[in-house]
Amino acid sequence: MSIIRSQIIGCGSYLPAKVVTNNDLAAMGVETSDEWIVQRTGIKQRHIAAEGEKTSDLAIAAARVALKDAGIEGSDLDLIVLATTTPDHTFPATAARVQAALGMTKGAAFDVQAVCAGFVFALAQADNMIRLGQAKKALVIGAETFSRILDWKDRTTCVLFGDGAGAVVLSAGEGKGDKTDRGVLSTHLHSDGTQYDILMVDGGPSSTGTTGCVRMQGQEVFKHAIKRLAEVVDEAFKANSVEPSELDWFVPHQANKRIIDGVAVKLKLDESKVVLTVDKHGNTSAASIPLAIAAAHAEGKIKPGHLVMIDAIGGGLAWGSALIRW
Ligand code: ACO
Repeated sequence: MSIIRSQIIGCGSYLPAKVVTNNDLAAMGVETSDEWIVQRTGIKQRHIAAEGEKTSDLAIAAARVALKDAGIEGSDLDLIVLATTTPDHTFPATAARVQAALGMTKGAAFDVQAVCAGFVFALAQADNMIRLGQAKKALVIGAETFSRILDWKDRTTCVLFGDGAGAVVLSAGEGKGDKTDRGVLSTHLHSDGTQYDILMVDGGPSSTGTTGCVRMQGQEVFKHAIKRLAEVVDEAFKANSVEPSELDWFVPHQANKRIIDGVAVKLKLDESKVVLTVDKHGNTSAASIPLAIAAAHAEGKIKPGHLVMIDAIGGGLAWGSALIRW
């Protein structure tokens, strides 16, 4: 019996031109050092959007690269799911801006809010719609201008994040229903609203009427991150009867190298199969996974037929994983 699978047929990314190194932050007056940031997080630099450069601008640029890579036009799309925590406006969805810019006239475009886990949530949404026959060609985007919600006087958070966007194109294809199929093999999503306060923005339209800034209990988030990510990756392995050794690439959310290493050790994942971009991009929230995918694709690492695991956790808390056969 054949089933519908969401197959990845293209990917792309965009990073703002301005690069800010750890030393630049110290020179800007942030009480920090390159040594502290590298040792605690693995981050060496991040890209920061120019004044006036919006999340939609980053998303559109990444989307155009992904469409070109897939060999299709914006008008071929019938779904855009855009993950962001930093939309251009409170409404409409930033995806609507992207839809108009790409010349897509059919189907639907909407945003998903799951903070750093946003790309996995958006991918799951698009995959489910494709498998239900509600869409045939979908663009899944993660895009953020996180620099706009940082308190540059709070050294415990402002050194961690960066701006950027990444996108993948999904196309409905056929599979046999086993792990040899090309496409998204599974997605697993979870949330725990009791941890709302440990990672949040202290503003919003219905609370303060302001945009607010990121507030985080770093050590609490750290503890939850390794435990939850290891669990949800293991869940994906078990659901697909896949052994960790079968994986070609592990593309985790790029928040902190220590979290990535912690999960890899817990699951006995081969270090050489872990895609790392956190040193160059910092934590770009929903954009981090598609940025890392695009980087690994451009370097010729991820190839057709490869088995790729992605995972992410963020505010909510919200976390998830997806297993994909390229
Ligand atoms: N530069 C220099 N010193 C700093 C900085 C900084 N940027 N930030 C904090 N410090 C100081 C603190 O003030 C503290 O000083 P003290 O001992 O004199 O009080 C000392 O460094 C240690 O601070 P801790 O908060 O205990 O540092 P920790 O080792 O926990 O590292 C970090 C902090 C990197 C935030 C860590 O907790 C972490 O990685 N947490 C995970 C959170 C995360 O990655 N969040 C991203 C969003 S969620 C996600 O994407 C998963």
